[in-house]
Amino acid sequence: MNMLLTVDRLESFYGPSQILHGVSLAVKPGEQVALIGRNGMGKTTLLRSLMGLVPRVQGTIDLNGSSIRGKKPETISQAGVALVPEGRGVFGSLTVIENLTMASRAGRDGKRGWTLDRVLSVFPRLAQRRGNGGHQLSGGEQQMLTIGRALMTNPEIVLIDEATEGSDEIWKTLAVIRGEGIATIVVDKDIKNLAKVADRMVVMSKGGIEFDGTPSELLSQPELLERHLGLH
Ligand SMILES: Nc1ncnc2c1ncn2[C@@H]1O[C@H](COP(=O)(O)OP(=O)(O)OP(=O)(O)O)[C@@H](O)[C@H]1O
Ligand SMILES: [Mg+2]
Repeated sequence: MNMLLTVDRLESFYGPSQILHGVSLAVKPGEQVALIGRNGMGKTTLLRSLMGLVPRVQGTIDLNGSSIRGKKPETISQAGVALVPEGRGVFGSLTVIENLTMASRAGRDGKRGWTLDRVLSVFPRLAQRRGNGGHQLSGGEQQMLTIGRALMTNPEIVLIDEATEGSDEIWKTLAVIRGEGIATIVVDKDIKNLAKVADRMVVMSKGGIEFDGTPSELLSQPELLERHLGLH
């Protein structure tokens, strides 16, 4: 099967500091990949690098066979990548509806499966709060809104950082996203629940990839779990 996303020997820098040291990773269309590892190991930097938000990157980042490395975030978004960052980033002074409609865009090949009505039906809480300003939402509601905004761009892959930070409803949302055939890279600390839903688990350590395999392969390696994830 053709890969949706291919990352090869990716190196990322913040100023003089090299944060990623040769990350290679491939994601198939519709695949759910969990990205885990201890604090400061480079998970957020990897997601931000894929979205074009890290100023200096080297190596390969291909989406559907075309390079997106070094492209602007807007171009990468148009190519089909959506980021749900930690801390979210909804527009506080705009309403729920305004936040959603401003993100609206056809996906690749003119795909428009995700409309305002569809997003509101997946997130009834957002429908109830439709006229509220972004700053009047709870953390969990802000997360739903950010995921709703990501879906409004009709993406091929959604990158979700610190997924359970908002609320536990994220697990339902991930199932919906998966049902749509949208690929995901999900960063979270809840390894048990991630292992239940993910097709693959990728463990990062010190800016590199330490393990890449199925949930059952990971769970059968207690030494790796303890060393890189602090699990006993
Ligand atoms: N803007 C930045 N400028 C310089 N260094 C940074 C910047 N952002 C992150 N770093 C450094 O890069 C390394 C990786 O950070 P990153 O945020 O990618 O880790 P993480 O795996 O997401 O951690 P966490 O689980 O705590 O969110 C850390 O050493 C961090 O201090
Ligand atoms: Mg992080």
